[in-house]
Amino acid sequence: MWLCCGANLPVPLRRRTPAWPLAKYEKMPVLSLFPSLLGLTLGYLMTTFCHPHASVCKLTQRMALCDLHQLSSVPRDLPTDTEDLSLNNNQIKGLKNGWLSRYPQLRSLSCANNGLKMVESNAFRDSHHLESLNLAENSLHPGDGQTGQSLHFLARLKVLDLSGNSITEDMAAELLQNLTSLERLSLSRNLLSRLDGSIFSNLHQLKELNLERNQLYEIDRAFDNLNNLQRLNLAFNFLPCLVNFEMTQLVVLNASHNNIEWFISNQDLNDTFQLETLDLSENKLFFFPFLPPHSHLRNLLLSQNKISFYDLLANSNKTNWDSSVVFYNLQGNVSNVTAELWDESLHGDISSLELLDLSGNLITNFPRGFLQQMPHLYQLRLRTNCMESLNITSGVLPATLYELDVSNNMVTELHAGQSSVSELNNLTHLNLSLNDIRRLPPKLFSSLPRLSTADLSYNTIGICSQNEVTNASYADCVISRNIISLKQLHLVGCDIVDLPPFAFEGSPLINLELSNNVGLHLRPDSLAGLGETLQHLGLGNTGLRDFDFSPFHHLKSLNISQNSFSQLPQSLMGLDLKVLDLRDNNLTTIPGEQAIRLAQTLESVFVNGNRFNCCHLDWYRTFEKLVNIVDLEEVNCLDRTHSTHSVVHFDRHVCGDSSQESIWWFILLFSSVILIFLSITGFIFLTLKPRVLPKAIKKKCWKATSY
Ligand SMILES: *[C@@H]1O[C@H](CO)[C@@H](O)[C@H](O)[C@H]1NC(C)=O
Ligand SMILES: *[C@@H]1O[C@H](CO)[C@@H](O)[C@H](O)[C@H]1NC(C)=O
Ligand SMILES: *[C@@H]1O[C@H](CO)[C@@H](O)[C@H](O)[C@H]1NC(C)=O
Ligand SMILES: *[C@@H]1O[C@H](CO)[C@@H](O)[C@H](O)[C@H]1NC(C)=O
Ligand SMILES: *[C@@H]1O[C@H](CO)[C@@H](O)[C@H](O)[C@H]1NC(C)=O
Ligand SMILES: *[C@@H]1O[C@H](CO)[C@@H](O)[C@H](O)[C@H]1NC(C)=O
Ligand SMILES: *[C@@H]1O[C@H](CO)[C@@H](O)[C@H](O)[C@H]1NC(C)=O
Ligand SMILES: *[C@@H]1O[C@H](CO)[C@@H](O)[C@H](O)[C@H]1NC(C)=O
Ligand SMILES: *[C@@H]1O[C@H](CO)[C@@H](O)[C@H](O)[C@H]1NC(C)=O
Repeated sequence: MWLCCGANLPVPLRRRTPAWPLAKYEKMPVLSLFPSLLGLTLGYLMTTFCHPHASVCKLTQRMALCDLHQLSSVPRDLPTDTEDLSLNNNQIKGLKNGWLSRYPQLRSLSCANNGLKMVESNAFRDSHHLESLNLAENSLHPGDGQTGQSLHFLARLKVLDLSGNSITEDMAAELLQNLTSLERLSLSRNLLSRLDGSIFSNLHQLKELNLERNQLYEIDRAFDNLNNLQRLNLAFNFLPCLVNFEMTQLVVLNASHNNIEWFISNQDLNDTFQLETLDLSENKLFFFPFLPPHSHLRNLLLSQNKISFYDLLANSNKTNWDSSVVFYNLQGNVSNVTAELWDESLHGDISSLELLDLSGNLITNFPRGFLQQMPHLYQLRLRTNCMESLNITSGVLPATLYELDVSNNMVTELHAGQSSVSELNNLTHLNLSLNDIRRLPPKLFSSLPRLSTADLSYNTIGICSQNEVTNASYADCVISRNIISLKQLHLVGCDIVDLPPFAFEGSPLINLELSNNVGLHLRPDSLAGLGETLQHLGLGNTGLRDFDFSPFHHLKSLNISQNSFSQLPQSLMGLDLKVLDLRDNNLTTIPGEQAIRLAQTLESVFVNGNRFNCCHLDWYRTFEKLVNIVDLEEVNCLDRTHSTHSVVHFDRHVCGDSSQESIWWFILLFSSVILIFLSITGFIFLTLKPRVLPKAIKKKCWKATSY
């Protein structure tokens, strides 16, 4: 039995219980019609013009593929021994009696996305062998007796897909009534809101049930008879809680994206639960779920809840909160469940956990001994919580740990094993970014022999120099030399000012991120020793003006954006870069030979935010043809008058040399014409002088004279 408790939940702590969730109606995903229409048209054209007389269906062995043909009925010209018939994306609005009688051997029928409204009651009368039926994405809806009747003939049906219709619980109960051999059922994207014992009561063989994206807010004993159910998907519903969970045979339960505040399994069962994966992410859990006392649970996904551990509160004298909570079930015949909230046994059996995802919760600390109960833990994800201190020691963390993500917390203190004997032997990924770590054990990296990726970005941590106090237990820097496992190191925004010589020598770094360390003093030999391995180097926003990149022959990706480069370092020309970010520098151009050399290997380049000269854009014309200029639309240049133009739309003739020449020619031609005109005028004027002069005088005096 499995109940979903009702509104009369007691308040466990003196905190307001969130309001009873109201069912919201999510919009159903709208299917894009365009591709199917396109397909329809293409299919139609092909059948019309290429094989006008052949069946529209593609036949292989005993399979007929008739998808996307605007069919409005089941084709009648297929071999009668057809076993698999696919009619997806057609226009079959109703499945009529007799249409399938021609194909009695049918084992699998797919009629998805047809706008199917109903199936006549005898449509499957002769389909005794049908094992798989797909009626997804149609318009089957309640109040239609015939469709329900029609499925009753399918005594051998194993797989049924009814997702994406408008099925309510009453209709589902009717449809499923006689499907006693069903093993896999999907009812996702329908209109189910409340499930009770009647709906799945005959599906004794069911192994997999998908109820994703309905409007479920209550489940009352609906799964009691499903003794073979192994996978249950309840994601994207409105369930407020899951209590008295006792489906011991279930292997995967997905109840993510609900409104679940409590998950409580039946603590009185001695059986071992088969549960391996429990997904309760995106819910409203306040407490770590009360897991089965015996299980093989391996993956526990609890991200995006409100989980915290309250043992510190419970043990402190300052508070006198009730430490127990009673769950009153809706049905009177079930005993009330009383739970001691601080009782560690309620965490249940976590001894087989391999993945624990607690990202996006409110965790400040773990109860004593909690993490040690997971001797097989492989991945621990604590991103975006409220951790203030962290002890990376094998006594505290399971020695099996491979990935630890504590990014985006409030960690100020980091403690780690000091002994030379390595403890967290398998820790490979460590993400501590976005915390407030200012001091840490400088030998952190060397105490983790498998460490391959370390992210310390957005803390205030530097790199220790060789002669710095390296025997101190704590320092404001970390030693990154001779870490032979380290491949990726992210030190973005760490306020690093001085990067000592040979800072990473002996560490085979492939990826080094030093961006956003404004005012970083990068010495010529700071990165010495990385020449043979480094493939990505991030130096964006570091105040850099110049650097010799020639030692890094394996570099494939370089970020020197937001710096003060006024010309590209010549040392880049010896590299075979594929990605280059040059944004926001002071470049006025990229000389022609440089552009040609870079374009030989570059695949992507980012260039906007420079002071490119509109009349020196040859680099752009080289790149345009050969390289993906990722931010092309945003790239501007300045003309002679310092006005800004988009590089793409700039008219090169305005400043090209050849056009200037033609202006001079034009001026020369124009002035010589004027000169000739003036001389002719002068000549005429002088030769006709006697006659012209009196007239001029006459005009001037404005008097009529008679000769
Ligand atoms: C469906 O099952 C009921 C009994 O559960 C039976 O009476 C009925 O005949 C079955 N219907 C068909 C069409 O087989
Ligand atoms: C649970 O369902 C959601 C929604 O379909 C899916 O994104 C998620 O991956 C599922 N969880 C597991 C563990 O499969
Ligand atoms: C579980 O085991 C305990 C002791 O082994 C026993 O007292 C209890 O009755 C058992 N519970 C069930 C439901 O079998
Ligand atoms: C709580 O108070 C009792 C007596 O008042 C004292 O013995 C005990 O140590 C206190 N516990 C804590 C955690 O302060
Ligand atoms: C559950 O608790 C309620 C409230 O205290 C009580 O009325 C009811 O009888 C209890 N039910 C059982 C089965 O103990
Ligand atoms: C970290 O854990 C280890 C092992 O339990 C312990 O010895 C050490 O004192 C802890 N460090 C701090 C600062 O809590
Ligand atoms: C570390 O990983 C290796 C292989 O991945 C495994 O054989 C070994 O048992 C692990 N060590 C620990 C302490 O978990
Ligand atoms: C570390 O975590 C941050 C924030 O959660 C994320 O953005 C970053 O990509 C992670 N680093 C690595 C190397 O995965
Ligand atoms: C280069 O570094 C800057 C500064 O950190 C960043 O904003 C930008 O996204 C990086 N470029 C690429 C291509 O990742």
